[in-house]
Amino acid sequence: MAKMAKAAVLVAPGKFEIKEFPIPPIGDDEMLVKVEGCGVCGTDGHEYKRDPFGLCPVVLGHEGSGVIEVLGKNITHDSAGLPVKVGDRIVTCVIPCGQCSACQNTPARTNLCEHCGVYGLFPDDDTHLNGYYAEYLKIRPNSTFFVVNGLSLDQRMLIEPAAVAVHAVERAKTTGLLNFNTKVLVQGCGPIGLMVLAVLRTMGIDNIIAVDGNDNRLELAGEMGATHTFNFTKYAKFEDMLEEVKKDTDGLGAGFVFQCTGVPAAAANAWKMVRRGGGLCEVGFFLPSGTCTIDPHYDLCNKEVTAVGSWVYSPQDYPIAFAFLRRAAGIGLPMEKLVTHHIPLENIQEALEVNVNMKGIKVAVVVE
Ligand SMILES: NC(=O)c1ccc[n+]([C@@H]2O[C@H](COP(=O)([O-])OP(=O)(O)OC[C@H]3O[C@@H](n4cnc5c(N)ncnc54)[C@H](O)[C@@H]3O)[C@@H](O)[C@H]2O)c1
Ligand SMILES: [Zn+2]
Ligand SMILES: [Zn+2]
Repeated sequence: MAKMAKAAVLVAPGKFEIKEFPIPPIGDDEMLVKVEGCGVCGTDGHEYKRDPFGLCPVVLGHEGSGVIEVLGKNITHDSAGLPVKVGDRIVTCVIPCGQCSACQNTPARTNLCEHCGVYGLFPDDDTHLNGYYAEYLKIRPNSTFFVVNGLSLDQRMLIEPAAVAVHAVERAKTTGLLNFNTKVLVQGCGPIGLMVLAVLRTMGIDNIIAVDGNDNRLELAGEMGATHTFNFTKYAKFEDMLEEVKKDTDGLGAGFVFQCTGVPAAAANAWKMVRRGGGLCEVGFFLPSGTCTIDPHYDLCNKEVTAVGSWVYSPQDYPIAFAFLRRAAGIGLPMEKLVTHHIPLENIQEALEVNVNMKGIKVAVVVE
């Protein structure tokens, strides 16, 4: 077994260094995973640009997967109860703290845990191997993880963003407004919006409008099954596009809107595209990006809109995400097109540049 492992350390905003660390001993409640690859998330892009979480120096990478190389003897099953052995391919999920009010009082909503741990967003420590932008990852005691042998590496790297989309759709379903014949609008066709679109398609919803400012992304939305696509930048003002959206929705507006941009002005516009009696799921803000204004009379009261926010995912969303990815392949959705770049760990800087310049959809850092 290797004694040393390379890891890409973000030492300061905009600057990675590939360092080598000794592989630490693995305890009876721990595992050592040989990383195969990891998707680059918008969050990594923000960390890369300006370190908003104050983590530098840090080994990032939370959308990864790899092979179990060392398995502590006390670990016999994954978080879904499946038996686990050396050589299995796994993904990790969040590590709820178990102590806070959310963990103690609402165990089905541990996504609201006040101190949730995520591999790839841990502050650096003596282990160093705490994120997937590395050759190896050390799994701590009491982690949540799942065996995902049947899925390809590209599919496995899409599980984490898929879980964000699955959770958003599960939240939307709680409103009772998402049915087979609901006319849905997805605003923002980055990885999250496209994944929401795909989840809706696998549920049998096929009347979906997609909105973005990037024609390539809209084209992919069309391939994913969006029935109409709108490029908002082609309209002089939002109201002009709104008219077009209304024409497509019997003059009413969308029955349900998923807001998947991180842009406050777009978040305000989303309310205007909901029909009377319709619903809205706000999923676009993982980081604070400013405030926006809605008109409480027109946008909320008078229309009696039912709105939900969606925050990451709980371990329960992961098995749903696996099922979704299998079904998406089954109905022929071109999910593989979401992974537009495969870049080796050594060139991680390039991977982050592609991400922050929005040149692809999902960039994968692969460990050879
Ligand atoms: N709620 C959560 O738990 C959670 C989890 C992950 C990501 N997010 C957030 O979700 C958002 C989307 O993630 P992503 O990875 O797809 O990001 P992304 O930046 O790749 O995609 C956002 C898309 O929105 C489009 N856009 C910008 N302004 C628009 C407008 N006015 N109308 C329509 N489209 C517009 C952009 O062209 C882009 O394609 C991000 O802001 C991210 O922080 C939230
Ligand atoms: Zn992510
Ligand atoms: Zn907690």
